[in-house]
Amino acid sequence: MNNFDFHSPTRIIFGRGTQKEVGGYVKKYASKILLHYGGGSIKKSGLYEEITASLKAAGVDFEELDGVVPNPRVGLVREGVKICREKGIEFILAVGGGSVIDSAKAIALGVPYEGDVWDFFTGKAKPLRALRVAAVLTIPAAGSESSLSAVISDEETQMKLGCKTNLIRPVFSILNPEFCFTLPPEQASYGVCDMTAHIFERYFSNVPNTELTDGLCEAALKTIINNALKVLKNNRDYNAWAEIMFAGNLAHNGLLGMGRQEDWASHAIEHALSAVYDIAHGQGLAIVFPAWMKYVYKQNIPLFAQFAANVWGEKENDLNDKELCALKGIERTEEFFKSINLPTRLGQINVKKEDIPLMAKKVTSFGPVGFFKKLDYDNVVAIYNLAYQ
Ligand code: NZQ
Ligand code: ZN
Repeated sequence: MNNFDFHSPTRIIFGRGTQKEVGGYVKKYASKILLHYGGGSIKKSGLYEEITASLKAAGVDFEELDGVVPNPRVGLVREGVKICREKGIEFILAVGGGSVIDSAKAIALGVPYEGDVWDFFTGKAKPLRALRVAAVLTIPAAGSESSLSAVISDEETQMKLGCKTNLIRPVFSILNPEFCFTLPPEQASYGVCDMTAHIFERYFSNVPNTELTDGLCEAALKTIINNALKVLKNNRDYNAWAEIMFAGNLAHNGLLGMGRQEDWASHAIEHALSAVYDIAHGQGLAIVFPAWMKYVYKQNIPLFAQFAANVWGEKENDLNDKELCALKGIERTEEFFKSINLPTRLGQINVKKEDIPLMAKKVTSFGPVGFFKKLDYDNVVAIYNLAYQ
């Protein structure tokens, strides 16, 4: 096990009715805030009314900025920075999914910085300060409600880049599984895929002696898989959503990667895909991850065999061969994505083969990616090609 330093300070307020208390939680930090949200799902569901009523009751004034789109854009972030500066706002409440929360985090970074906020995403500048951010999460998926990262897209350059700093971990996040009842089934599946991917990025590590986090990853994966099938049958199954929402948070609050070497190549490969094709992140991951697994599993066949056994119940002894068992685990993963109606090949989402070099160049523009197996430009091209077959 590697040395580690774990600090995940986000207060998680979980369960039915918790959104009604949001004003009181915000008031501890600020009396004037930016309320940031997306394309209108919170108005349709009635959540907007509940949040604004609670803020008003607590005496919190708010400016609003809506219009965050999936794969959130830096243009809206710049607008948010301007509003906060003009109105003297120092706290942002994001109500929505990963895109809204990431947009809020980026605004939080941009306000106290003299240059352009995009500098933090290209690596031109290192964040030193940020406004405080909190979230009311409406879709379990990205894990941004307690993660240290924000992922933002620049339409002009077709780049989708992340910035990681503990400064932007939300101070609190409200998670009510009832919010998930209004999720369209495809969004539920994208979210499920993303959270499994966050665990894969941590689980597939060559660091030995990580028994506890191996087990935590495997338990979280099994919980997500079991309950995904339940919510797709009945999207008002509170208990199943509660398991998924909790697991999605744990998948990306950092704990499951402690003592391990995290990989993150598949996320970089997916981000280039959603930068060029503007697809949902979870949709892209269902295509990229099986291809990545097929390309890299020989690095550590025993771990892939353990994954097949402990997550999918494949018996190494029955197969009498570790490699066969490892391959079976990859096949079961792909079958699972298919069973929740996700595409698993690039052709299914009309990605053009001639765009592979462009995407692979974006992925490796800052050098090779990944740690389980380091991937250069040619390796990434090979993975995109595998994702076609
Ligand atoms: O905009 P609205 O109208 O709210 O609709 C959203 C959006 O269209 C809708 N939605 C959300 N909650 C809903 C709902 N519809 C009905 N009922 C509800 N309760 O769902 C759509 C997708 O929302 P989005 O926020 O884009 O989804 P998600 O949470 O999957 O976020 C994806 C973004 O997060 C980034 C991804 O790259 C992508 O840009 N990620 C962020 C990470 C982080 N900050 O730590 C890590 C992840 O790996 C990921 O890269
Ligand atoms: Zn992700």
